Amino acid sequence: MPSCFFLLFLVIKHISATASSDSGFSRHDFPPDFVFGAGSSAYQVEGAAAEDGRKPSMWDTFVHAGKAYGNGTGDIAADQYHKYKEDVKLMFEMGLDAYRFSISWSRVIPDGYGAVNPKGLNYYHNLINELVNYGIEPHVTLSHFDIPQGLQDDYKGFESPKFIEDFTAYADLCFKEYGDKEKQQGKIGITLLAFWYEPLTNSVINIAATKKAIAFLIDWLMEPIVYGRYPAIMRRNLGSSLPHFTEKESNLLKGSFDFIGLNHYAVVKVDEPTATPSVQDDNMIDTRANAVPAGRFRILERNIFRLKRPEQNSSEIGIPKMLRYIKQKYKNPTVLIHENGYATDNGDPSSPASYLDTKRIEFIRNNIQSLLESIRNGSNLKGYFVWSFLDCFESFGGYISHFGLIGVDFKDTNRKRYPRLSSYWYSSFLANNTRKIETSSAFVE
Ligand SMILES: *[C@@H]1O[C@H](CO)[C@@H](O)[C@H](O)[C@H]1NC(C)=O
Ligand SMILES: *[C@@H]1O[C@H](CO)[C@@H](O)[C@H](O)[C@H]1NC(C)=O
Ligand SMILES: *[C@@H]1O[C@H](CO)[C@@H](O)[C@H](O)[C@H]1NC(C)=O
Ligand SMILES: *[C@@H]1O[C@H](CO)[C@@H](O)[C@H](O)[C@H]1NC(C)=O
Repeated sequence: MPSCFFLLFLVIKHISATASSDSGFSRHDFPPDFVFGAGSSAYQVEGAAAEDGRKPSMWDTFVHAGKAYGNGTGDIAADQYHKYKEDVKLMFEMGLDAYRFSISWSRVIPDGYGAVNPKGLNYYHNLINELVNYGIEPHVTLSHFDIPQGLQDDYKGFESPKFIEDFTAYADLCFKEYGDKEKQQGKIGITLLAFWYEPLTNSVINIAATKKAIAFLIDWLMEPIVYGRYPAIMRRNLGSSLPHFTEKESNLLKGSFDFIGLNHYAVVKVDEPTATPSVQDDNMIDTRANAVPAGRFRILERNIFRLKRPEQNSSEIGIPKMLRYIKQKYKNPTVLIHENGYATDNGDPSSPASYLDTKRIEFIRNNIQSLLESIRNGSNLKGYFVWSFLDCFESFGGYISHFGLIGVDFKDTNRKRYPRLSSYWYSSFLANNTRKIETSSAFVE
């Protein structure tokens, strides 16, 4: 469609002018070692779900029970398992410093423990080699909602302490296999889903509900790994149903990370009087907070894939507030924004409506710009990743809504890729750069 490409060209010219001058910031304003990337996760892009020895994860089971939004599955997804070379080339052309992807545990150790699958291991060797050959840093997620189904059947996965031994063996295998690809030692951390909560009104009850919501989303995981204990507000609300750390566990937890990843999508308003259905349904958290973490997970599992995502607004910027909170409360850890992006309805990926994703550009640009003040104020922020590199089988949107810088035609058996305007914007932002990647480092979560 030549007319469409012409339109695209005009808009790109306009956008890159805006990006470099009008909005008054460029890549040069960031520290030279600041990493810009984009991400995905295994089940959401790979496909090949039953190929080369892979067995199901709890995600396969969940979506095959028709529980995903729109009833889709990741059986084929974006077919990255077969198209990784094409994708890495696109990443290179986009100018990414890094690609954040996840390893499917069910692909490398199909039962979750025991026998290793050489074909599965090999796929990630190939992917990592391809990235490194193009000078792109691998940022590897070890588990992205996709616990092997075998572990779920044996002992309910995360809910059992038996999980620790199997996860450790899996993590050790990944370090042994893939660790030598790095010139410097891999760094290990944890990534949190990190909406920023604000009270809808300044009522005492909403302010209290907001603190509770932040505690149950962020502090729940941050306090144990920084201070070796659960947040007071959780202990008060949950009493003895909250697991208790022994002194040994508490000491092991303290400082057990090199970095914190944050996945941020929206500022969510908390309104306690209506919290009973609407905050839970619309905002993915039960601010009444009367469930133990495992219980809360069940609540999410039951509801989350039917939920509406919180509305995204490119003028409402939550990352700086969250970074300030984390800097002050948690001893200013190293932070990576591991996911940030904007959903649009999928539609036909070859159509102008899909190409011309100016709202996505505005959202990403405003969020990137917002990082500068946090860095100037001393936050230990080291990188930013757009979610997502290409359209995925979305956790909350199935194949109905998408975040990709690159669109994927999920109706096409070849899963043709369609770079969107946002990919050209990101690319032109990244190109304004003198940084050379001299060392390859890996970040593992
Ligand atoms: C690159 O950054 C400089 C200032 O930092 C700016 O003047 C220039 O317009 C930018 N170029 C592009 C292509 O963004
Ligand atoms: C998904 O499946 C359920 C039942 O299996 C059905 O009621 C619903 O209409 C389906 N939704 C879509 C979008 O196909
Ligand atoms: C987006 O946020 C801005 C700033 O808070 C607000 O003025 C605007 O009304 C919001 N837009 C929508 C559609 O909610
Ligand atoms: C930066 O610090 C100033 C002064 O303390 C403060 O007013 C501002 O809110 C801070 N901004 C961020 C993003 O942390």
